[in-house]
Amino acid sequence: MKQALLLPGLVVALAAPAVAGDLDNGRKLAEHWCAACHVVSSDQKRASVDVPTFEDVARRKDARALTLFLTKPHGQMPDMALSQPEIADIVAWIESQGPNPVPAEPPQDKPPSGLSGAIAPSK
Ligand code: HEC
Repeated sequence: MKQALLLPGLVVALAAPAVAGDLDNGRKLAEHWCAACHVVSSDQKRASVDVPTFEDVARRKDARALTLFLTKPHGQMPDMALSQPEIADIVAWIESQGPNPVPAEPPQDKPPSGLSGAIAPSK
C-alpha cells in the first residue's frame, strides 16, 4: 500500500476517495489551486501581497466557516468548482497550518459550575 505512494499524485488524481480531510491531498490541491495568491504552507516564501496566508486564515476561521467560504469563488479566484471532498481536504490542510489545529473553540463565557471545581482550586 505505502509503495504505491512513491508515484506522487498519480494514485490520488485517478480516484480520489471521499475521505473527509485528507491532509496530503489537501496540500496538493492548495499548492495547485491556491498558491498563486496565498501562502499555503510554511515552506512557501511568497505569494500575492494583501492576501491572507493559510496560517493566518486558520487562526481566524474554524473548519465550518472555511467549508462554507470555499463553496463559492472569492477575490479574482478562478471558479475552480471544488467538490465537497476536495473542500474537506483543503480545509483540513488549512487548519493544520494554524497554531492550534482544533476545528472549533468551545464557548468560554459561561464556566460550567459543579465539575469545574475539581480543575480550578478555589480559595
Ligand atoms: C486569484 C487569487 C486567489 C486564489 C487563486 C485563491 N484566493 Fe483565496 N483569497 C484571495 C483574496 C484576494 C482574498 C481576500 C479577499 C476576499 O476574502 O475575497 C482571499 C481570501 C481567502 C480566504 C478568507 C480569508 C479570511 O481573511 O477570512 C480563504 C479561506 C481563502 N481565500 C482560501 C482560498 C483557497 C482554499 C484557495 C484555493 C482553493 C484560494 N483561496 C485561492 C485570492 C485568491
